[in-house]
Amino acid sequence: MTTRTLVLIPGDGIGQEVVPEAARVLQAVLPTLHVIEAEAGWATFQRDGVSVPATTLERIRQAGAALFGAVQSPARKVAGYRSAILTMRQALDLYANVRPVRSLPLPGARPNVDLVIVRENTEGLYVGEETGDGETAIAQRRITHHASARIGRVAARLARHRLTIVHKANILPLSDGLFRDTVRTVVSEVRPDLDVDELLVDVAAYHLARAPEQFDTLVAPNLYGDILSDLAAVWCGGLGLAPSINLGDSIAVAEPVHGSAPDIAGKGIANPIAAILSGALLCRYVWGEAAAADAIEQAVARALQEGAATRDLGGTLTTREMTNAVLAALEG
Ligand code: NAI
Ligand code: MG
Repeated sequence: MTTRTLVLIPGDGIGQEVVPEAARVLQAVLPTLHVIEAEAGWATFQRDGVSVPATTLERIRQAGAALFGAVQSPARKVAGYRSAILTMRQALDLYANVRPVRSLPLPGARPNVDLVIVRENTEGLYVGEETGDGETAIAQRRITHHASARIGRVAARLARHRLTIVHKANILPLSDGLFRDTVRTVVSEVRPDLDVDELLVDVAAYHLARAPEQFDTLVAPNLYGDILSDLAAVWCGGLGLAPSINLGDSIAVAEPVHGSAPDIAGKGIANPIAAILSGALLCRYVWGEAAAADAIEQAVARALQEGAATRDLGGTLTTREMTNAVLAALEG
C-alpha cells in the first residue's frame, strides 16, 4: 500500500477550525494517510514577514498534496505582503483551478446540477501588469498557446461527455481566439469522444444562472473562470459547502472556496463541509482514490439529508458535531 502524505495548512480564521475536521474525515477513508502541518497566511506574515514560508512550499512539493483552509487579507495595501494562495499558485505552478458544483440534498436547493468549472490560473488579466497616468490606465492580458494547451488537457481529462469552451473571441479574436482554438485542438487529440461546444462568456453566465443542469464541464481563461465559478457556487447551496482544488502537473492544493470568515471565527460554528468536500477532491483527482471520494461525498449527502445542519444552513450543529454526523454517515 502506498503511503501518502497530506500537508494541512489551516491558515487564518475558520481555516483553523475546518481543516483539522476535514483531515479526520480523510483519515477515516484512508487510514494510512500520513498528515503533517504547515503554516501560511496573515498571522504567519505578521510574525515572520512572509505569508508562505519556504518550509511550507518545500513540504507541499515533497508531499504533492495539501489542504489549505483560508487566509485573511488586510483591507489596505501592506508593504511586503502577498496573498498566500496567490503565492502558492505561482510558486508551485498550480495552473488549473477546478470547481465542481453539485446539487446537495438541502431544503429548497436546486436538484440535478452536476458541473465542473476549469479555470486557467496563471495568466489572462492576472499577470498583474498595469500602467496608468491618471488619465488612461492599461492592463495587460496575456494568453499563451502553452497555458491554453495545458488547461485544455486538464479539462479534457475531467470532462465526462461534454466540454464547453468559454471565451469572448468575437471581441478579442487574437487572444481569446488563441485560447479557444488551442483548447479545441488539444481536446480533439486527447478526447475525440467528447462533445465540444463553445459559448461567449456573457451567454455562458446567462445559461449558468438559468439552466445549470445542462452543463458538464466548462473551461475558461482566468477572469471569466473566476467570475463564472462564483456564480455557479450558488448552486452548491452556499459558501459553507463549496469545494475547490488547484492542480499543477504533480502538485495539488485543495481549498474550500470560502475565506477566513472573521464574523464567526473562533466560535466553533463554521460549516466544515466545504473543506471536507475539498478533501474528497484530493482523493479523486490526485490520489486516484475514486471510491474514497465517492464515500465522502455520499456521506456528506446522507448527513445533510438526515437534517445535519450548521448555523449557515439554519441548524445548530457545531463544526465538530457536523463532522461527526459525516463520520457517522460514512460508517452507516
Ligand atoms: P468569507 O468567505 O470569509 O465569508 C463570507 C460570509 O460567509 C461570512 O458571513 C461568513 O461567516 C460566511 N461563511 C464563509 N464560510 C463559511 C463556513 N464554512 N461556514 C459558515 N459560514 C461561512 O468572505 P469575506 O468575509 O469576504 O472575507 C473574509 C476574509 O477572507 C477576507 O480577509 C478575505 O480577503 C479572505 N478570503 C480568503 C479567501 C481564500 O483564502 N481563498 C477567499 C475569500 C476571502
Ligand atoms: Mg474568487
